[in-house]
Amino acid sequence: MTIELNSPLDMHLHLRDHEMLNVVAPLTSHSFAGALIMPNLVPPIETLDALLAYKERILTVTKNDIFKPYMTLFFRDSYDYDFLKSFGSELSAIKLYPAGITTNSEGGVSGFDVKKLSPTLEVMSELGIPLCIHGETNGFVMDREAQFVPIYEKLASAFPRLNIIMEHITTKESVEALERHENLYATITLHHLLITLDDVAGGMLRPHLFCKPIAKRPHDRDALLDVALSAHPKVMFGSDSAPHPKHAKESCGCAAGVFTAPLALAKLAEIFMEKSSVANLQKFVSDNARAIYNITPLSKKVILEDNPMNVPHNYGEVVPMYAGESISWSIKSIE
Ligand code: NCD
Ligand code: ZN
Repeated sequence: MTIELNSPLDMHLHLRDHEMLNVVAPLTSHSFAGALIMPNLVPPIETLDALLAYKERILTVTKNDIFKPYMTLFFRDSYDYDFLKSFGSELSAIKLYPAGITTNSEGGVSGFDVKKLSPTLEVMSELGIPLCIHGETNGFVMDREAQFVPIYEKLASAFPRLNIIMEHITTKESVEALERHENLYATITLHHLLITLDDVAGGMLRPHLFCKPIAKRPHDRDALLDVALSAHPKVMFGSDSAPHPKHAKESCGCAAGVFTAPLALAKLAEIFMEKSSVANLQKFVSDNARAIYNITPLSKKVILEDNPMNVPHNYGEVVPMYAGESISWSIKSIE
């Protein structure tokens, strides 16, 4: 049996830089036609020059594949009309991080004073630049995302022309918020469709499953599965594949991030097949993102087959999800 996907897209991806970029970028560009590239480098991407230079480095290491990096900027409330206008079509979205909430987010926003953020958000509305948000407060770790939902809603109401993407949602509360505001959308990762906090910390601690936002309760995972498997038009796949070297994960201060890029499509095929939803996979991994971001991806056909994939123990210094295990689907060919 086979599944054919047209131009799969990963709308939330960390490619890092330097040696790590060389290792991980081809693992995405092999099977995806495009990806939204996160700007949380050190220092973050916050100028046109830095964005274009990073894009060039990505294109250089992915040159053997049909692949388009959709570039993002790290949100600052100092961005004005002329500055953002100068990016033209090079800018696909701006990513807003609460200060210090996750990897390399120290320069993010604190306090969420709508008045302070207003001028930049108005300009983004006018220029049609989507706002991607890592929505977590600094509250109790299991409640951070649900506590952030009122902030999403405040922003969605205050800027009705601004498309806001709730990144890597993990809770029922976020799923429900999608229905209340026309301009709220969401990405969902592979790992949050599969695991709960029990898988991370219920037995032996599993550092390679530790990420932000942390995986939540079974009913949250079920809510995510509902909208992903039905390919709700406001949700799209964003892996949040976030590589860290093995020593940074298997350490007494474990870095947050799950690395799924090389197995994402195979595992999605397995899940959608098992749940009798394979007819919706094309929408979840591509069509919904095209509509939400108003993009036409490069043409690329990916054929998956029900032939097992053995996941390697590591890719360079990075340990993937399902390392050393087998997934019942794999990529057969790419045209
Ligand atoms: C991401 C990273 O490592 O850059 N980590 C993560 O746990 N998801 C950052 C992020 O998206 O929060
Ligand atoms: Zn991320």
